[in-house]
Amino acid sequence: MILTLSHQKGGVGKSTVAWNLAVSFSKIIPTRIVDLDTQRSLTVTNALRIEQGMEPIEMLHFNTAEELAQYAAEDSDDVLTIIDSGGFDSAFNRVAIIASDLLITPVSDKPFDLMGLQKYEEILKSLSEIQGETIKTHVLFNNINPSMKRFGELVEFICGSEHFELLVPVLRQRVDMAHSVGEGKSIKEYRIFSRADQEMDELFDEIKGILNIQ
Ligand SMILES: Nc1ncnc2c1ncn2[C@@H]1O[C@H](COP(=O)(O)OP(=O)(O)OP(=O)(O)O)[C@@H](O)[C@H]1O
Ligand SMILES: [Mg+2]
Repeated sequence: MILTLSHQKGGVGKSTVAWNLAVSFSKIIPTRIVDLDTQRSLTVTNALRIEQGMEPIEMLHFNTAEELAQYAAEDSDDVLTIIDSGGFDSAFNRVAIIASDLLITPVSDKPFDLMGLQKYEEILKSLSEIQGETIKTHVLFNNINPSMKRFGELVEFICGSEHFELLVPVLRQRVDMAHSVGEGKSIKEYRIFSRADQEMDELFDEIKGILNIQ
C-alpha cells in the first residue's frame, strides 16, 4: 500500500504528518518512508531518532523517478509505504501521485493556501486526463489556529472539486508538533494525551479506516 503526502506548495506539513503517521503505522504494519523532500527532513529526523536509541523507521531513497515507479509496481498489501513528497511539481511527485492508494494534501488557513490548492488541482486534472481516471486527494486542515472555527471559501472550493475530499479530523497549530519532530519522536512519543496527540490519533484512525488496516 502506498500513501503519499502530496502538495506542490511547500511548508504545509507534509513531512510532519508523514512522520507521525509512519511512527504510528509502524506499530501495526511494516512501514517504510520514501523521502522525496529535497531537504531530506525525515532522514534527518530518523537520524535523531537513532541517536536517542529509538527504533528507526525504514527509509528509502530513489535516484530517479523511474526507480520509484519500479518500486511502486512491486508494491504489496503487507507493507505500508509513506511517501513524503517535495513541495513542488516534479517527475518524482507525479509518479508518487499516480502510484498511491491514498493521497493526503495538508493545507492551512494562511492567505495563499487557496491559490496553492487551485494550482494543485490543475496538476491533478492534467494527470487525471493522462491516466483516464479522476485522481482524488484527501485534504487535511493542518497547522490551523486553535481559535479558528470557520474555513469559509477554502471549504467551498474543496467541496466543489471532484479532485478533493475533505478529511474530518483537523490538526491545529501546536508547538509540540515542531518540537517532537526535532527530537526524532512522534507527537505521541513526545507528549501523550496532549491535544496534538489526540488530534493525530483521530487522523490515524481515519486513515486506518480508509486503508482498511486493522
Ligand atoms: N500542526 C502543526 N502545528 C505547528 N507547527 C506545524 C504543524 N504542522 C507543521 N508545522 C510546522 O510547519 C513547518 C513546515 O512543516 P513541514 O516541514 O512538515 O512542511 P512540508 O510541507 O513538509 O514542507 P516542504 O514542502 O518544505 O517539505 C515546520 O516548521 C513544522 O514544524
Ligand atoms: Mg517536507
